[in-house]
Amino acid sequence: MFDTLTAMPADPILGLMTKYKQDTHANKIDLGVGVYKDEVGHTPILNCVKTAEQYRIDSEETKVYIGPTGSAQFNSLLGELAFGSDHPALLADRIRTVSTPGGTGALRVAAEFIKRASTMTKSQTAVIWVSDPTWANHTGLFEAAGIEVKTYPYYDYDNKSLKFDEMKAALSQVGPDDVVLLHACCHNPSGMDLSEAQWDQIVEITQQQGFTPLIDMAYQGFGVGVDEDAYGVRKMAAAVDNMILCSSCSKNFGLYRERIGACSILGRDAASVNVAFSVLLYVVRCIYSMPPAHGAAIVETILGSHELKQQWLDELKIMRDRINGNRIMLVDKLIEKGVKRDFGFIAQQKGMFSFLGINPQQVERLQQEHSIYMVDSSRISIAGIGQGNVNYLAESIAKVL
Ligand code: LMR
Repeated sequence: MFDTLTAMPADPILGLMTKYKQDTHANKIDLGVGVYKDEVGHTPILNCVKTAEQYRIDSEETKVYIGPTGSAQFNSLLGELAFGSDHPALLADRIRTVSTPGGTGALRVAAEFIKRASTMTKSQTAVIWVSDPTWANHTGLFEAAGIEVKTYPYYDYDNKSLKFDEMKAALSQVGPDDVVLLHACCHNPSGMDLSEAQWDQIVEITQQQGFTPLIDMAYQGFGVGVDEDAYGVRKMAAAVDNMILCSSCSKNFGLYRERIGACSILGRDAASVNVAFSVLLYVVRCIYSMPPAHGAAIVETILGSHELKQQWLDELKIMRDRINGNRIMLVDKLIEKGVKRDFGFIAQQKGMFSFLGINPQQVERLQQEHSIYMVDSSRISIAGIGQGNVNYLAESIAKVL
């Protein structure tokens, strides 16, 4: 049976990790996968996580199954973090959340849920609209669940801005049976976010067209702040009957390998969301039965303690400020190296990523000749920059331009 298989290409993002590790160049730089790194290129465990983890080890009494929803306390606290504790939809009991194995697990659960909802109501292939461009794994993930993926215009590569009018025009044609995926903040891969005024317009179009929004929030707190980054999520949830939110605790809690995220669904009222939730739980049971518990235990310990939550917010701010500082540092260094092309847009964008805007041959040369690793699209993970490597990085970029 296996003899019929053909090899898959390496993952465009994760494949870079292997190549980077094998490179022996003393000045190699990893701008590939989106993980936070400190000044010396290390991805630390947050202090609040260490404390919460120790507390859990000391106090945990059983490893018995927890059920498809995962921890009720985690689900409730993460829901409050995303929607805000006084959100009308939470107060009206219209939201249900399950813990998932990471943000990718949340998206896959959402995908299976959408497919089931689609076949139950109209027995035809579900369609999801994603931004052009979007996270490299979105397309594969939804297609693997049997969903057709279409794109709407988003990033203007020439002008390093949003194609907002084109985006609105495209979404104004989407029908009520379809799903539209929006990035809550820190758009991956472009770093180009909707402003609050633009979110307001997208929410209006969503209401008018009646499609279901699926918001992917993998970077809450990495853009402007925990509440600011959830503006679109909160606004949308206050305006529509149905919505799906996929959250991740990988980046903002630094819990990458623990695989913890959440999938929340919003229904018209408590009774209808209960029906939808039963479908969501069935989907979970059929994929992995129930989520891992350790990451959720850490997050709920942090969010449930006033002191630990404050410590987490402080540590999150340190990560956010470092990334924003790196953006400015790179732009300044490129100017210092005599680069004439305007890279000022990098300092304006938000979150972990920006496109450098160089061509694939230049990306290849940076890798082959300078041991600088980034995704083929020229997406760079800004956290990989530091005072120790920005000089070499800017010099190398100047050489390939
Ligand atoms: C990224 O885009 O680099 C991250 O979301 C990590 C991943 O799984 O791709």
